[in-house]
Amino acid sequence: MTLIQITQPAPVATEQPGERQNGAGLVQISPLDSPRSNSEALAPKKLCSSSTAIAPKKLYIKTWGCQMNVYDSKRMADVLRPLGYSEVSEPDDADFVILNTCHIREKATEKVFSELGRLKKHKTRRETEGKSTITAVAGCVAQAEGDVITERVNHVDLVFGPQAYHTLPEMIAQLTGAYGANRIINTDMPTEAKFDLLPEEETAPSTPVAFVAVQEGCDKFCTFCVVPYTRGAEFSRPTKQILTEIRNLVAAGAREIQLLGQNVNGWHGIGLNGETSNLGRLIYQIAEIDGVERIRYTTSHPRDMHDELYAAHRDVPQLMPFLHLPVQSGSNAILKAMNRKHDRDEYFRIIDKLRDYRPDMALSSDFIIGFPGETDQDFADTMEMIERVKFTSAYSFKYSQRPGTPAAILTHQIHESIKDLRLQTLQNQVTTHQQEFNKSFEGKIVPVLFERSGNKPGQIMGRSPHMQSTYVLIPPHQIDRMIGKTMDVCITGGYQGSLAGDLVTT
Ligand code: 5AD
Ligand code: SF4
Repeated sequence: MTLIQITQPAPVATEQPGERQNGAGLVQISPLDSPRSNSEALAPKKLCSSSTAIAPKKLYIKTWGCQMNVYDSKRMADVLRPLGYSEVSEPDDADFVILNTCHIREKATEKVFSELGRLKKHKTRRETEGKSTITAVAGCVAQAEGDVITERVNHVDLVFGPQAYHTLPEMIAQLTGAYGANRIINTDMPTEAKFDLLPEEETAPSTPVAFVAVQEGCDKFCTFCVVPYTRGAEFSRPTKQILTEIRNLVAAGAREIQLLGQNVNGWHGIGLNGETSNLGRLIYQIAEIDGVERIRYTTSHPRDMHDELYAAHRDVPQLMPFLHLPVQSGSNAILKAMNRKHDRDEYFRIIDKLRDYRPDMALSSDFIIGFPGETDQDFADTMEMIERVKFTSAYSFKYSQRPGTPAAILTHQIHESIKDLRLQTLQNQVTTHQQEFNKSFEGKIVPVLFERSGNKPGQIMGRSPHMQSTYVLIPPHQIDRMIGKTMDVCITGGYQGSLAGDLVTT
């Protein structure tokens, strides 16, 4: 069997400053060979299309995890479209199956293996029909555990990390063409290269909300987290490339732009005049594009909040008054053990400043419950923070030991039963706040950008500026022409997870 492996060498050790773990082990990243310098980023190239006829093929992509993975999956489809692949919603008869995976919490790998088990049946059946199937594992599990996957599953043809999807045409050529490789593992990490392949025209987004990855990777090394090892170092795309992509998306029907990045507010790409820019400045520039009605950005780190970003929240009407700003814990001792590089007072100062600049700012956060050593008092500090900030939504997770991260080998791991109890307590409190917040909208008029039809006949769903899912009943034949429009809605009901209302007719 021919196996092509495109990975950086990975001797195993514990993490040291300046070192970065890549899958099985650690890879030394020196400032000189780092692909991260923003000034190295190239101007966007267009995907070329072949003049020879290409047989139509079916592509199935299953995506787990964050919005960045959703974005990457869309880009994989873009890269494969010129090769004749169009997306289908079921794997049964797909010529190419990609599992785009997430590694942030445990069991992710097991989910991938059970999905691969199901896919083997399709592959075998298709073989009996004389059809071949390419099976690929992509994303963060592929990056971290590529070798384990190929060892355990012999029907996987391609394993590639989050930074390698732009090489899909070459990888397919190597698999099916003269090189005759049976399998390819590509966990190289040249972050900027994947952003250089922009499609000539954007396909219309399935909703008026379009996601644009502006930043990728993480240099923060929180002690619980695998992202710095799977997504690589922080990289910021240049302003020009981002504005071009947004103009194309708006031309294809997007109305709301959600900027994505693991540390999106740490974005520091090259500005239009060659200077190093920041996210606040970028938002002012995006707001000038005709047709951009709403702007959001996620996920942010408290350490990366900066003055121009606060100012943008005050000055840019399209920037929505909602921010997802993960804090993880309200305890200073735990924040320190997590290597978050800020304390609870700094977080409170950020929230106060945001609300000074934008008084109606709503906040959401991520919390990790049961980080090693978390005492009752530490948890009480988290609850006190929740009481003070009154988050309008929050994602909360039980701490999950991730192999290779510093926290995984800490003693004083917390018992599952304690984690369960604390998680329930925290979620109950957030739910109460969410309910109170939504209820406070009853009787108010809220502009809602309609995204899609709801589950009930005649129901249409959109979002308020504060990210609340809002449902309105209208005559069913009007739904299609309402999608993509922002309309005033009078809120008649505020519930835990949504608002209900009526269109305001003038
Ligand atoms: N255990 C539990 N939650 C985690 N997260 C990241 N790593 C872990 C882990 N090891 C959560 C954090 C992060 C979110 C994306 O996932 O809250 O903000
Ligand atoms: Fe993970 Fe921390 Fe980086 Fe967020 S900031 S991606 S939690 S290491």
